[in-house]
Amino acid sequence: MHILNFLKPKAEVAYIDVNSSIRQCVEKMTIHGFTAIPLLASDGTYIGTITEGDLLWFIKNQTDMDLYKAEELSIKEVKRRRDNIPVDINASLEQMFKLALRQNFTPVLDDRKMFIGIVTRRDILTYYQGHVSTSDSDVINPVISTILSRRSIRHYTQEKVTEREINKILDAALAAPSAKNRQPVHILVLRDEKIKEELKETTKYGKMISEAQVVLTVFGDTKQEANEFYLNNDCSAVIENALLAIEALGLGAVWIGTENEKETSFLFEKLSIPQEMKLYGMIALGHPLEEKAPHGSAPFDKTHFNHW
Ligand SMILES: Cc1cc2nc3c(=O)[nH]c(=O)nc-3n(C[C@H](O)[C@H](O)[C@H](O)COP(=O)(O)O)c2cc1C
Repeated sequence: MHILNFLKPKAEVAYIDVNSSIRQCVEKMTIHGFTAIPLLASDGTYIGTITEGDLLWFIKNQTDMDLYKAEELSIKEVKRRRDNIPVDINASLEQMFKLALRQNFTPVLDDRKMFIGIVTRRDILTYYQGHVSTSDSDVINPVISTILSRRSIRHYTQEKVTEREINKILDAALAAPSAKNRQPVHILVLRDEKIKEELKETTKYGKMISEAQVVLTVFGDTKQEANEFYLNNDCSAVIENALLAIEALGLGAVWIGTENEKETSFLFEKLSIPQEMKLYGMIALGHPLEEKAPHGSAPFDKTHFNHW
């Protein structure tokens, strides 16, 4: 194992250039929903970490702070309380784990001290959650704990969901069981802002679509599976698999029901979807901006043994 296995590359990280204004920094943090971001020099070297607390103290000490002033003042003026300590890409995993104990993310530098990305505590935990032994007990079984912790998430940060994450979700989704193994389910991935916005307008309970980074639309092929009941079941199994994969990746999502023909016709016309396809459901997903408690154990009155 190497630090690279955990690296979130620079292109996917929200960071701020040292020549930015305070307003730009506040906006970046608000958009991405982070409370701390790396501060970089113009040549890409790591300088330190700007936190919400640093900004608040700075603003508190300014008697005449307003939006215009925030635009003029450089982020260089802000006193940083504690910089996240960076790690060299070739450092040992042990060194990185030690740093992860004291900070939410660890900046990673290459041989020339250039910032190349971060390793988040969540990425480390997510990785190990997926590799914990499944034999000992159900308490630490990663599949069961993912199932139990999944909740519908309807608010998302603006952090991007990567292609790699999408591909993992699609693999898990389409590995679902299907009646007679006919595998009649198709998934159309929607990222386009304009299409998402139009789609949102056609749904009654899908307003979260505009916040979501990605919408997965799940179609059943009515030619491949003529039995409506089976097709519905097959699509539902795919949707649930996708929701669990999303949870396992540390992302958040909600199942959006589609009983409304309006949604279907809009998508079909705009995106050249074959007529034999039927839209059975959608999933809005992104990086979670809300947390929910798990449901807990199965309700006593909903489980029956041998007789009702
Ligand atoms: C078939 C189906 C359709 C759903 N449709 C919507 C929807 O259109 N909008 C929405 O916000 N949630 C929708 N949900 C999510 C449910 O509201 C949610 O699962 C339920 O409130 C339980 O919460 P939990 O997912 O956090 O356990 C749907 C769930 C299912 C299974």
